[in-house]
Amino acid sequence: MVIHPAFKTGPRAQYSGGRSPETRLEEACGLARAIDLNVVAAEVVRVGDPKPNTLLGMGNVERLKAIVDAEEVGLIVFDAALTPVQQRNLETEWKVKVIDRTGLILEIFGERARTREGQMQVELAALSYQRSRLVRSWTHLERQRGGFGFIGGPGESQIEMDRRLIDERIVRIKKDLEDVKRTRALHRQARKRVPYPVVALVGYTNAGKSTLFNRLTRATVMAADLLFATLDPTMRRVHLPSGREIILSDTVGFISDLPTELVAAFRATLEEVLEADIILHVRDVAHPETDGQKADVEAVLAGLGISHEVSDTMFEVLNKTDLLDEPARETLSAQAARDPRLKPISAITGAGLDELLAAVDQRLSAQRQVAEYRLRHEDGAAMAWLYAHGEVMERTDGETCTEMTVRLAPEDIQRFERQFSGSVKQEGERR
Ligand code: GTP
Repeated sequence: MVIHPAFKTGPRAQYSGGRSPETRLEEACGLARAIDLNVVAAEVVRVGDPKPNTLLGMGNVERLKAIVDAEEVGLIVFDAALTPVQQRNLETEWKVKVIDRTGLILEIFGERARTREGQMQVELAALSYQRSRLVRSWTHLERQRGGFGFIGGPGESQIEMDRRLIDERIVRIKKDLEDVKRTRALHRQARKRVPYPVVALVGYTNAGKSTLFNRLTRATVMAADLLFATLDPTMRRVHLPSGREIILSDTVGFISDLPTELVAAFRATLEEVLEADIILHVRDVAHPETDGQKADVEAVLAGLGISHEVSDTMFEVLNKTDLLDEPARETLSAQAARDPRLKPISAITGAGLDELLAAVDQRLSAQRQVAEYRLRHEDGAAMAWLYAHGEVMERTDGETCTEMTVRLAPEDIQRFERQFSGSVKQEGERR
């Protein structure tokens, strides 16, 4: 059974970000199904006055108990953060296991993490979550035991021990993560030297990123009607119509109200996006709350320092247009005609994909390109010019000359080649 508590007042009343509790419940059911749970009952429960011990009032607790028994519910997914005390008390009342939203998303992340770094980040988040539960239930137990005079009993030292094991594991994973990050930085450097532009897909969970990714790469990334079909960025090479090669990168889906314990893990998976030359924000325009989803995604990107307004590197890919009726589709087309950053497509039918790729191609031509030059040692001025105007990616000092790989704006490439035509021997092709 999935329960979404809708708070009438207090700070949590705004949690839903303007969404209806019913849509939130539906999203929570989708998350539950994503880990193969069979949802037999789902309900929005209005909470007027959150109770510290059970969150819900006793009336609701008893009413839901009847459903638990009648439907033979084996697990309750509570779509909110529960304190360890609330979680335990509800389990006692309902006599079934209860997991809260953080626990649920941890399960999903754990199942879907594919790269070593992703797995470690999820484990780290899970350990911290578990640790906070232990600590809090420990202080709770201590208080309770204090009343009975059992302080220092075996139960408590067991918990202390668990905490120590968890701490040790956390320290080890953090150290391993540093190593993995370092090698990843090396990989990135290596990729920079193979200077394909990177195009990253971001978007709300279930927006159709994997479907689009597959369609464009014909790769077999798991695309399912499941939330979070992708956790770790996945990369593939794609040829654009001009023949230019790019690396297309698929990222984990966004969700609203991500539990704070998971923000770091989620963000780390998105760091790849910062390296991207172009970002494609894939939107499900057929979703009733597509605007709220868009706002969520843009808020997270803004947190990473990527602003939609100023960015000329971002396209809004309006996906699932095949599900819209004709008037809605025409409205979108009219909008897209006015704003070249909007690209209506259907990842399923393939409509609009050629236009999207052409637009990416065009945008990339306007961006910095990579050029390789061979300069004589005495051409210090040309070298200085390249350092001043471009990003020198590689430099090899040979016996008679220096080879430089530089990322430059197209107009700077022309200027450089004009200004220093006498001293420059161009090597190979510009990419
Ligand atoms: P996460 O991995 O959860 O972030 O999801 P995602 O954004 O990668 O979505 P995915 O590609 O898995 O697609 C989600 C669902 O939407 C699947 O059932 C797809 O078949 C469906 N879908 C994707 N694109 C389209 C489209 O253009 N039209 C229609 N009708 N359905 C689509």
